[in-house]
Amino acid sequence: MSKVSVNKSPSLRGETKVPGDKSISHRSLMFGAIANGETHIRGLLKGEDNMSTLKAFRAMGIEITEREGTVLVKGKGLHGLSEPGDVLDAGNSGTTIRLMSGLLAGQSFYSVMTGDRYQRVRPMKRVIEPLTQMGARIYGRDGGRFAPLSIVGTQLKGIAYDSPVASAQVKSSIILAGLYADGLTSVTEPTLSRDHTERMLGHFGVKLDRQGMTVSIKGGQELSAGEIIVPGDISSAAFLIVAALIVKGSELKIKDVGVNPTRTGIVDVLKAMGGDITLENERVFAGEPVADIVIRSSHLKGVEIGGDLIPRLIDEVPVLAVAAAMAEGKTKITGARELRVKESDRIKTVSAELSKFGTRIEELDDGMVIEGRESLSGCNINSYGDHRIAMAMAVAGLIADGETVIDGSEAIDVSFPGFFEALKGLT
Ligand code: S3P
Repeated sequence: MSKVSVNKSPSLRGETKVPGDKSISHRSLMFGAIANGETHIRGLLKGEDNMSTLKAFRAMGIEITEREGTVLVKGKGLHGLSEPGDVLDAGNSGTTIRLMSGLLAGQSFYSVMTGDRYQRVRPMKRVIEPLTQMGARIYGRDGGRFAPLSIVGTQLKGIAYDSPVASAQVKSSIILAGLYADGLTSVTEPTLSRDHTERMLGHFGVKLDRQGMTVSIKGGQELSAGEIIVPGDISSAAFLIVAALIVKGSELKIKDVGVNPTRTGIVDVLKAMGGDITLENERVFAGEPVADIVIRSSHLKGVEIGGDLIPRLIDEVPVLAVAAAMAEGKTKITGARELRVKESDRIKTVSAELSKFGTRIEELDDGMVIEGRESLSGCNINSYGDHRIAMAMAVAGLIADGETVIDGSEAIDVSFPGFFEALKGLT
């Protein structure tokens, strides 16, 4: 396990970019592989999660190469994948295993998918259940609760599924299975989760219908290869945004960040806390809104958040908790039980690690209450193998007195290779 030491930082200033969006990168590889023609992807995230997806498609006979920074995926059409000769390894990536379960369920071959030790204890029933209703033959450990998953491809049939969770992974898995199913497949979610699948399938020429919280797809539609420009990941930008807000005297511009409204909850909340954040130069890349984000350090105040906002910032709660730790007053986060089944149980891991800095934090069943204070003390942090815990606590380390050591910092490569170099370049 690698360790990185973080010390009190001078102000963050200048212009920067963040690596490509992880969710959009996964989808561009997956959809490119089953499209007709060659898909060109600019700005693909080369994090470990996306490399798991890339390797899985190579193992199913898809040629993926790179030319002058553009990744080329030679799609073979809806029925062009071939049976993998070995187990597919999704590593730490929940998006890979869950979305691909839907895709693989409708193939005419057998496949097995596994993941790392953190992945193998994450819930898979949430996708196995609806896929089984569609006729899928998909099996996992402990009655289908956990990976490895074993998938005997078969002809699927469309269903109307009412999802109990607002999860883009569940929704996308069913939509992908729906592409291979007879008839119409629809998914209804309690609140809107990120909609990159819907947007990108539209970009590849697939027709989807949206009515409120329900999205429907007709099976058998072919995808046409396209050009994708992957915007910067707002979930990665969030670490730099919070760093610039809490490190005094900072002024930062992060260029070309994806600002899809299903992902910008973090910007809305930080603004409500008093954060000086502006969006400039708004444009659209392949159906996804993009902007430059300008941040100036600010005096933050505690807030209460919950409800429909939660899916719009679910991955940003660890770093939002760091902002709350430096805000005046209390911040209360509720309705975020999903945090318990992320790369780590983030209610537990955020509470355990942030309290080491001297922050008072109360764990709730579905969230947390954080009491802000004026200073933090450096400490030894455990990442629990979770990239976002490692980065959030490194941001806290930038304002803490004394040294903060992040143990297990290699987890950061899952989504933000070059994170520490990016921070260093701004100070
Ligand atoms: C993702 C969806 C979210 C998110 C994850 C990426 C995606 O998970 O937390 O990091 O790319 O679809 P859920 O769908 O489980 O909420």
